[in-house]
Amino acid sequence: MVNDAELDPAVIQQVLQQLERELGVGLRGAGGAVPGWVVARLTRAIERAPATQGSLAQRLRDRRWLAQLADELRVGETRFHRDPTQWAALGSWLEQRAARGGRLRLLSAGCSTGEETWTLAMLCAELGLNAMVVGIDRSGPAIERAQSRRYPAGSEESLPARWRARYVALEDGAVTIASSLQASFIVRDLMQGPPPGSWDLILCKNVLIYFADAGTERVVAQLMAGLQSGGALVVARSDVTRLRELGLTPAPLAELSAFFAT
Ligand SMILES: C[S@@+](CC[C@H](N)C(=O)[O-])C[C@H]1O[C@@H](n2cnc3c(N)ncnc32)[C@H](O)[C@@H]1O
Repeated sequence: MVNDAELDPAVIQQVLQQLERELGVGLRGAGGAVPGWVVARLTRAIERAPATQGSLAQRLRDRRWLAQLADELRVGETRFHRDPTQWAALGSWLEQRAARGGRLRLLSAGCSTGEETWTLAMLCAELGLNAMVVGIDRSGPAIERAQSRRYPAGSEESLPARWRARYVALEDGAVTIASSLQASFIVRDLMQGPPPGSWDLILCKNVLIYFADAGTERVVAQLMAGLQSGGALVVARSDVTRLRELGLTPAPLAELSAFFAT
């Protein structure tokens, strides 16, 4: 049951402040604005909570409830080949990088259910690149889905036709990723930093919104420290304003919101 007061923007603010204070979870966009999808999800989560969990004020003091709420808010939208222009720019950058020789080490950080990581593996296959592709996310169920290589039919539609033909198959009403593609997946919280080793590329798209400012600074610093010399941290276009507010300036490379390690 929910009462009108719980849907009030002031209450939404109160819940967000508590999430930030207790768990360091920030869900604000550029300029501190709360994105519409956050308000919608928060409202749904509050509406669904059974009355036995007590009043909202009681729940806000319950760290377990807050942690559940944070998990629900974190599992975000994703899709194959999200932002095609950025993928095209990334392909050119990876080809240049590969010219140095050796095996590329590519990380998809905050990979959700793996569509981004598999897209990266497809891009490397298309370009004939020798690459190790790894996806990490703090959500165990999301990583299990990624490892299963199976997605709902229709999810492949955002892929270019040629990639659809080469890298996915429709089996038993589901989309399966071709066994010729390799990627590994690890459950890992980005607050621990990237997995050890130095990376040529870290994709961290649509993830930084989940951290409060101090958390974002820490996570970005750790990701930058995890890059090889000349390696790139690539974020979503929508993340750039937020990072600029933290004093970071992306490299001026067309269509690629990239921050390069020196
Ligand atoms: C909106 S999805 C983005 C997926 C993909 N990067 C994309 O752009 O399509 C955000 C993902 O970030 C993950 N995430 C949030 N906070 C995280 C953290 N502290 N450590 C690792 N992953 C996190 C969530 O579990 C979710 O799967």
